[in-house]
Parts: sequence; structure tokens; C-alpha cells
Amino acid sequence: MKIKKQFSLILFGFFFVLNALADDTNSIALGEKIYQQYCSSCHGAEMKNPQWGFDLGKFPRDSKIRFIDSVTYGKNAMPPWEDVLSKDQLEALWSYLQSVPASL
Ligand code: HEC
Repeated sequence: MKIKKQFSLILFGFFFVLNALADDTNSIALGEKIYQQYCSSCHGAEMKNPQWGFDLGKFPRDSKIRFIDSVTYGKNAMPPWEDVLSKDQLEALWSYLQSVPASL
């Protein structure tokens, strides 16, 4: 009886992790889509060779607050996105940025 219970707990944990992983992959894919639509014209396809402005390959991968802030409210020549993108979409963009290796 006890073993059965432990087994189901392990099983539960396993699916929990799987689910979290799938979620992560989904938001990266979503973030990539949003990026292609709204950001790639200035920041370059796949965040490489930006036309002008800022090379996102060089954006610090541990500065989430700065990322959300700059994208939400804009920065110098970059327009604000707060009326265009939802919080979830910003989170997805951040996941996508995390998935692209930094090019320092
Ligand atoms: C119209 C062109 C343009 C578009 C479209 C654009 N950006 Fe930018 N972005 C810029 C420019 C120019 C800068 C440099 C701003 C500066 O530091 O002077 C910048 C800077 C940034 C930075 C760095 C901000 C910082 O804190 O230094 C991030 C992050 C960023 N953009 C993300 C995005 C994301 C995500 C999108 C899509 C939702 C996007 N940008 C769309 C032009 C653009």
C-alpha cells in the first residue's frame, strides 16, 4: 500500500516536470513568433545582425526586469510596446531571448 502511494507520487512528479518542460518550449515558440512579427525588422532575424539599434545577442541574460521595462515603455529610438503586447507575450519574448545564446 505504502509503495503504491510513493509510486504514484513519483509518477505525479514526473508528469509535473514534463508538463513544465512542455510549457517552456511552448512559450519559446510563441516568443519567437512574436519576435518575428514585431521585433525582427529592427533587431534582425533570430536576433542576429540587427539592421540598426541594439544587438539583442548582447543583452544581459540575467536582466529580466530591465528587459520587461525597456520593451514595455520603450527606450530612446525604440517605441513602447505596452499597448501592443500583453504581459504573457512579454514573458514569451523573454523565454525566447533566454533560448538564444548570448553573443558577447
Ligand atoms: C523601430 C525599431 C525597433 C523595433 C520594432 C524594436 N526595437 Fe528594440 N530597440 C530599438 C533600438 C533603436 C534600441 C536601442 C535603444 C537605445 O538604447 O538607445 C532598442 C533596444 C532594445 C532593447 C535593449 C533595451 C535596454 O535596456 O538597453 C531590448 C531588450 C529591445 N530593444 C527589445 C525589443 C523587442 C522585444 C522588440 C519587439 C517587441 C523590439 N525591441 C522592437 C529599436 C527597435
